[in-house]
Amino acid sequence: MTLLIIGIIALAVLALVPLIVVMRGRDRDAAIGTISRETAKRDTAKVFDDDGEELVSGKKYEKAIVAARKQESTDLVLAEAAPPAPYIPPDPEQLGVTRRMFFNRGIIAMFGLGLSGFGAACIGMLWPSGVSGFGSKINAGLISDLKAEIGASNGFLYRADGRMWLTEYPAGAIEKARAVYTTPELNGMNAGVVALFQKCPHLGCRVPECVTSQWFECPCHGSQYNRVGEKRGGPAPRGMDRFAMSVTDKGELVVDTGSIIQGPPIGTNTTGQEAEGPNCISESSH
Ligand code: FES
Repeated sequence: MTLLIIGIIALAVLALVPLIVVMRGRDRDAAIGTISRETAKRDTAKVFDDDGEELVSGKKYEKAIVAARKQESTDLVLAEAAPPAPYIPPDPEQLGVTRRMFFNRGIIAMFGLGLSGFGAACIGMLWPSGVSGFGSKINAGLISDLKAEIGASNGFLYRADGRMWLTEYPAGAIEKARAVYTTPELNGMNAGVVALFQKCPHLGCRVPECVTSQWFECPCHGSQYNRVGEKRGGPAPRGMDRFAMSVTDKGELVVDTGSIIQGPPIGTNTTGQEAEGPNCISESSH
């Protein structure tokens, strides 16, 4: 993103440079004066007097002067050079700001303002603002409240904002868990909660809970996972993926939904939880 911002600023500066060069050229011409196109044409054209005699054109006269300076012969009679007029610098206050200068500067100012506004809008659009929802860190609330909500939801609390399931992790299994899970996972498990990604690691279906078995059971191809997302059956290549967790000083669970951790390998069963009732789907061998 930094590169994009630098690019926008560079573009704005590059666009201003030619404009300023043109405007400066016009200001200079206005200050020192230029020969109009008609005058330049008259200088080079053939001019005749009333009797049809060709008069000396400005260009011819200039050539004769150059030749005289080089001490070459010329058939023209040249007038005595007038002494150069003493230079009197123009009074800037008297010169003031011409209408042309005013409009030129106005155009530059408007152009600059427009570009600045466009650049600011681009930067504002790309600037990371307070991101919330999936992909960000979500404060799920007090652990004690969460446990109560999980209990009230038959053991499975779904949070749509994080596309996650929150379930309780039994304190008695934490020793086994330490041998399998990483610190970002254990942060929440030590406090008794696990945050599981809703997506099935097989082919990506959303895995629903099965209240009767107290497992997760995927309707797509029949993968089954215990309540903490460890694989118990079906074609899935591992347990359910989960999120990094942390617990604040106030006892709130923060789930980093931007940090997905791969589920535990097949065979992991730290809680030893068996199906607590009839399964919702029968295991498939897809
Ligand atoms: S997507 Fe879940 S088992 Fe295939």
